[in-house]
Amino acid sequence: MEEIRQKRVLMIPAPFEGHLPSMMNLASFLSSKGFAITIVRTQYNFYDISADFPGINFFTIDDGLSESDMSSLGLLDFILKLNSLCEPLLKKFLTLKDHFDFIIHDEFVYFPRQAAQDLNLPKMVFSASSAATSISRCMLMENQDKWLHHGEEARFKLEELVPKFHPFRYKDLPVTAYGSMERLMLLYHNVSKRDTASGIIHNSSNCLENVFTSAAEDTWGVQVYSVGPLYMTDSATTCPSLFEEERNCLEWLDKQETDSVIYISMGSLAMTQKEEFVEMAMGLIQSNQPFLWVIRPGSITGQNSVDSLPEQFSQALTHGDRAFVVSWAPQKEVLRHRAVGGFWNHCGWNSSLESISSGVPMICRPYSGDQRVNTRLMTHVWQTAFEVEGELDREIVETAVRKLIVGDEGKEMRRRANELKKQVEDSVRIGGSSYSALMSLVDSIMSS
Ligand code: UDX
Repeated sequence: MEEIRQKRVLMIPAPFEGHLPSMMNLASFLSSKGFAITIVRTQYNFYDISADFPGINFFTIDDGLSESDMSSLGLLDFILKLNSLCEPLLKKFLTLKDHFDFIIHDEFVYFPRQAAQDLNLPKMVFSASSAATSISRCMLMENQDKWLHHGEEARFKLEELVPKFHPFRYKDLPVTAYGSMERLMLLYHNVSKRDTASGIIHNSSNCLENVFTSAAEDTWGVQVYSVGPLYMTDSATTCPSLFEEERNCLEWLDKQETDSVIYISMGSLAMTQKEEFVEMAMGLIQSNQPFLWVIRPGSITGQNSVDSLPEQFSQALTHGDRAFVVSWAPQKEVLRHRAVGGFWNHCGWNSSLESISSGVPMICRPYSGDQRVNTRLMTHVWQTAFEVEGELDREIVETAVRKLIVGDEGKEMRRRANELKKQVEDSVRIGGSSYSALMSLVDSIMSS
């Protein structure tokens, strides 16, 4: 009798905190369905996660890049360099290792594309962001001239709606704080080249953005699998983080009233200017609401830690009953805690998904890239959030926090967030859209 060989899938995540966990959740799922999974990671940002994923093989390719390359090059040039360095290394790896049947790579590490083509291997692109973000990059490439002209008129134009991309304005398109427009266009050109992929996988759900999933299918002419939120699938394993979680904040939350706490976190990359940070702190104190604040080490420009702030200020933050400061929180558990009534966030896609899946409304303060797109989705499509734009002062912070936590508008947003939460939960259950997309992804890899 002919032996049925396990299909071997090579998966390549991007080496960033906002990207690795969702791809590892997909890897766990595919492994649970009988695929033999090999993960290839870069040396940059490497930390060992293999003990948490028994049954999955791990290899590292030595790109030779370090944190100091990231600081000196900036994020955009760093990603471009990572790709050009890794392309020949992966080709070498593939000629030395066993045969693979299929490749899935993160959209920001596009270096496997050429090797897959040379070896005639089918491949799919994995996006840790939304389908709306994928489309928005194309819209930005088409309209890049809008950002190249300065002055009043140009600013006015950025407020206009992008044709055929309702409800996004030009200013919501994913420009970056991490490099020049020219380098961004080069990166987006590479990231958006998907014509040779046999499918695109998004860590998103059709109940959140089915219009944009269809638009992505039309744009690239391939099937789009909206399979998220992947951390909610039954097989999901918590991926260890580069940062150490301070779990004692959960005990502090236990002592707070239901829906009373504002949780503040800005993900793994966003930086805050010291002046804005001080206004934020004073506004939070003035709001009279309890708050849990993640102050990531190194996230305040020119400031190493909260301890080096003026004494009375850090005391107010760290020793009051109403405030709890951590350097990294168990965010998914925090958002699911009954005491958390609102989330002040930069609108990274993972945080946006986690907040919606927990029924928590948001105050959006986007910094860069897809965070603008996610903000507009939340404020104008899901209507579970509002944005705080422009320069911050303590009064603006105080008013925003009170509006979200105790105001009628905030209550309405919380009600809508809870409705969406149920829809997201349904989408990952048997028969739901994300569950079905995962099953059809399995079929597609099997038949490739
Ligand atoms: C990056 C980009 O900035 C973001 O725009 C993109 O969508 C994904 O890649 P990041 O900025 O880190 O991600 O934000 P986000 O996508 O929200 O991911 C942060 C992750 O870290 C979330 O899963 C969140 O739960 C986790 N986190 C954050 C913690 O576990 N604890 C914390 O204290 C803060």
